[in-house]
Amino acid sequence: MARLNILRYPDPRLHTVAREVREVDERIRRLVDDMLETMYDAEGVGLAATQVDVHERVIVMDTSDSRDRPLVLINPRIVEASTEMAVNEEGCLSVPQIYDRVERHARVTVQALDRAGEPYELQAEGLTSVCVQHEMDHLLGKVFVEYLSPLKRDRIRTKMLKRTRDELQRMR
Ligand code: NI
Repeated sequence: MARLNILRYPDPRLHTVAREVREVDERIRRLVDDMLETMYDAEGVGLAATQVDVHERVIVMDTSDSRDRPLVLINPRIVEASTEMAVNEEGCLSVPQIYDRVERHARVTVQALDRAGEPYELQAEGLTSVCVQHEMDHLLGKVFVEYLSPLKRDRIRTKMLKRTRDELQRMR
């Protein structure tokens, strides 16, 4: 397994729309394993392939407290979404140290393929529901800060650019 580099907002590659996975083969399983290692290492609850610059519909998640319940969603599709909405504070491994409130469906039912390529259905609520919707947005090229006001988004963009610049300078 290998740890992958996570793209950082405002990297334009984060706005790429991912394509369907045609076959869950060894290559995809390796990608899933590398993404899980990367997510656990970064202490995230979810990671979309888009964030590691692979533009195929693959998501890994683990919203358990024990951090031992990996979820793999390949070609995920939301088949049902509650009309009830919920506002939650979100963060993102591509926008480190930035958190803000986003409104989403309180519950969603999603169909996907697992690591073995087997179809399954997941009824998600709470953090898992937030995470599914957040990660599926990534596959459409959307980062959660795009739900915020243009003013907030500009501030975050500036902050992120400055932080990346500072880090590069420190490495010199
Ligand atoms: Ni994210």
